[in-house]
Amino acid sequence: MKSFLFSLAALALCGACSQNTEVTSPDGTIRLAFAVDSAGRMTYSVTDGGVRLFEPSRLGFEAAETDLGGGFAVEHVSRTSVDETWTQPWGENKENRSRYNEMAVRLRNGGGVRLTLRFRVFDDGLGFRYEYEACGADSLRVTDELTEFRFAADGDSWTIPASFDTYELLYRKLPLSELADANTPATFKVGGLYGSIHEAALYDFPEMTLRKTDGLAFKSDLAPLPDGTKAHVGNKFTTAWRTVQLAPDAVGLINSSLILNLNEPSKIGDTSWIRPMKYVGVWWGMHLGVETWAMDDRHGATTENAKRHIDFAAANNIQGVLFEGWNEGWENWGGSQSFDFTKPYADFDIAEIVRYARERGIEIIGHHETGGNIPDYERQLERAVKWYADLGIHNLKTGYAGGISGGNNHHGQYMVRHYQHVVETAAKYRMTVNAHEPIKDCGIRRTWPNMMSREGARGKEWDAWSAGNPPSHEVTLPFTRLLAGPMDFTPGTFDILYENTRNSPRRKLWNCGPEVDMRVNTTLAKQIAEWVIIYSPVQMASDLIENYEGHPAFRFFRDFDADCDWSRALAGEPGEFVAVVRRAGENYFLGAATDEQPRTLSLPLDFLKPGTKYRATIYADGPDADWKTNPTSYTISEREVSSADTLEVAMAPGGGQAVSFMPAI
Ligand code: NOJ
Ligand code: CA
Repeated sequence: MKSFLFSLAALALCGACSQNTEVTSPDGTIRLAFAVDSAGRMTYSVTDGGVRLFEPSRLGFEAAETDLGGGFAVEHVSRTSVDETWTQPWGENKENRSRYNEMAVRLRNGGGVRLTLRFRVFDDGLGFRYEYEACGADSLRVTDELTEFRFAADGDSWTIPASFDTYELLYRKLPLSELADANTPATFKVGGLYGSIHEAALYDFPEMTLRKTDGLAFKSDLAPLPDGTKAHVGNKFTTAWRTVQLAPDAVGLINSSLILNLNEPSKIGDTSWIRPMKYVGVWWGMHLGVETWAMDDRHGATTENAKRHIDFAAANNIQGVLFEGWNEGWENWGGSQSFDFTKPYADFDIAEIVRYARERGIEIIGHHETGGNIPDYERQLERAVKWYADLGIHNLKTGYAGGISGGNNHHGQYMVRHYQHVVETAAKYRMTVNAHEPIKDCGIRRTWPNMMSREGARGKEWDAWSAGNPPSHEVTLPFTRLLAGPMDFTPGTFDILYENTRNSPRRKLWNCGPEVDMRVNTTLAKQIAEWVIIYSPVQMASDLIENYEGHPAFRFFRDFDADCDWSRALAGEPGEFVAVVRRAGENYFLGAATDEQPRTLSLPLDFLKPGTKYRATIYADGPDADWKTNPTSYTISEREVSSADTLEVAMAPGGGQAVSFMPAI
């Protein structure tokens, strides 16, 4: 790791005076100005190049015990510059550069509250956090956050509504002037500049959502605790970073590692046991309604079915198999939400399944569905994780499908603590975590690399029991949800219209009523492209395995490598289209997708290693493909290419394209 730390450049003491204080990005483009007014209220404003982004916007908090928002005077300002390159065991990019100027403003108010406001300005955005110490109070009940984002001009936004319980909502494109509230990452375009408001390194604190206060001003609205306050903290507390990614083009947001850069280095010393993987699972059948989680005559997680999936994985260069509905308690789902995490159903012989998988080099992914019953889960957690680890199972998917106990919501401080407790307990037993119904990703995977993936948006499952995700959904996610981190979206339906399921007498679809058109709203080629576009270090081929057996296009997933080294978003606009390429070892994988509009992208292949010839295998929409009328028309072609070539990527309405590039030998 290269590290240059140019420490302490200036120290200014200014007693009780108010002082405007500025910090710029290393390239001088982004400028953040901090100020304190005569009442000791703090604000910041931001410009980027010629664009005025935020007018003076309030900073601070409120607490029941003392004033955390006013009466402040600057005590001193210190500045630091950092330029370092760091590596991670897995990620979109294994190597990341963190280059920023920091300004730490130390303040104090009449109530004896000390505050350090730490601002970091990078070339691709900024972050700031609050480090409070309230002398004279043992603990604090935080009642509100005052942080504002006062846009200087109207623009576009791509967001989901603010909800403290779910992120599984549809994205809307709205002018900022018409946006009432949003969850983060909240992506916007103002004055030709793209940006995204989010948070980094969220621990022991509620999530931040955004609520419109007036005109173009949004204020942080923290997820509350059951008592109506927002957080219970000690008299010393540090918040998550409030972050604003900025880029001249939309793909610049995707290519930024700002959120990771604002997280601490790994706390796990030996990370050799943490490995990306591809997986299949006993999963989609339950969502379609053709199998059940609970043990009955359609039970999915049987020993026989488990072995069938293990055989399939072993034959197809797939490293893992997920089993849901393997443990007692699913009959209580939606009722008492009481699951037993160490009692397999009688028809799931876990010892035999583990043996069978180990012999074939396949890893099992365990599953804990909690139904939101946190006390019950926490009582069993350590024992259940150890039980899995003792069996040789080192990958855990968790789920919180249900209301959270004790009047808590999914995104408040209680749950942020809980999710972290699971990550740390898992790390103790060398277990990776993939959380569904999670807290939003804030980049803690840098510090806890066993926290692999999450859901935290509308995933593929919505295609099984609702009108499904619209064609714009998967080309919105890369510019919104995925800015936060990996997503276990679970792409890869090949039976787009569920024809095989409908035509099988043994199987029946979930009964959604005749008004719901049950299908996937993309072409087949777009499903393949999503394996590349929607980054997850644990990437699932989610369809029923019989829909992949013998399918020529499944070769892409067989060849695909979830353990990528480097990634680049090449082109795209939120909600319209995107093209992403990833390198894994010597091979490259490209995924491109579009919304309802057909498009052709000219993509220079200058990312390939110069001087090397590659065999490109192209999985494209057929000439007559259309997501609505002809979604399964596709072609596979091969050609030799080099970094000097340009690829014309033609995509049907609701379509996409996937390409693997392997050195030609
Ligand atoms: C919702 C999760 O997102 C899904 O993946 C899982 O199968 C069900 N809950 C049951 O746990
Ligand atoms: Ca879910």
